[in-house]
Amino acid sequence: MKFEDCVLCNERHYATKPVPGEGNSKLAQICLLGRNPGEKEDESGRPFIGRAGRKLNEGLQFAGILRNTCWVTNVSKCYTPKNVAPSAKCLRTCQRTWLLDELARLKQLRLIVAFGNQALHVFESLARVGELHGYSFDVDRPWEPEKRITVFCSYHPSAALRMSNINKMYLADMVKLKQLEKEATYD
Ligand code: URA
Repeated sequence: MKFEDCVLCNERHYATKPVPGEGNSKLAQICLLGRNPGEKEDESGRPFIGRAGRKLNEGLQFAGILRNTCWVTNVSKCYTPKNVAPSAKCLRTCQRTWLLDELARLKQLRLIVAFGNQALHVFESLARVGELHGYSFDVDRPWEPEKRITVFCSYHPSAALRMSNINKMYLADMVKLKQLEKEATYD
């Protein structure tokens, strides 16, 4: 099945078409992982380009990370109206069918920044962003279990847009991400 022909879950009916990840898959060392595309992303076919995308960009400035050096993607590839979260079935199906293969193709990948609970749950199914935000942890790569990957988690940029207390924590997390990146060692 081709990516754009995917009809594996009900969420597909709301979407113009699935939105693929974006970036340089050969060079990207950092993956920015969100939940699912919004309306603007659905219209344009590109991840994180609407209001949440601008908040993401602001966070990246605080982190000293250039967006065009990252792989930008979502757990679920389809838009859902009114910012309703995709169903657990959709998130699981999309993760297994598309996301893990996508991550496996990023040969330089060393860090995943998970924004929000749905992105965090790809790596720690019972964790909550409220408890782990601003922290990084190493896990077995779900697509290559004998290798580890570092995951850093924060609040979703959309939540930061809606709530000023979350925004403060989100931006503070991005400063911690900058510190993590400063300390990172390269093979
Ligand atoms: N929210 C997300 O999680 N991803 C997008 O691409 C846009 C908004």
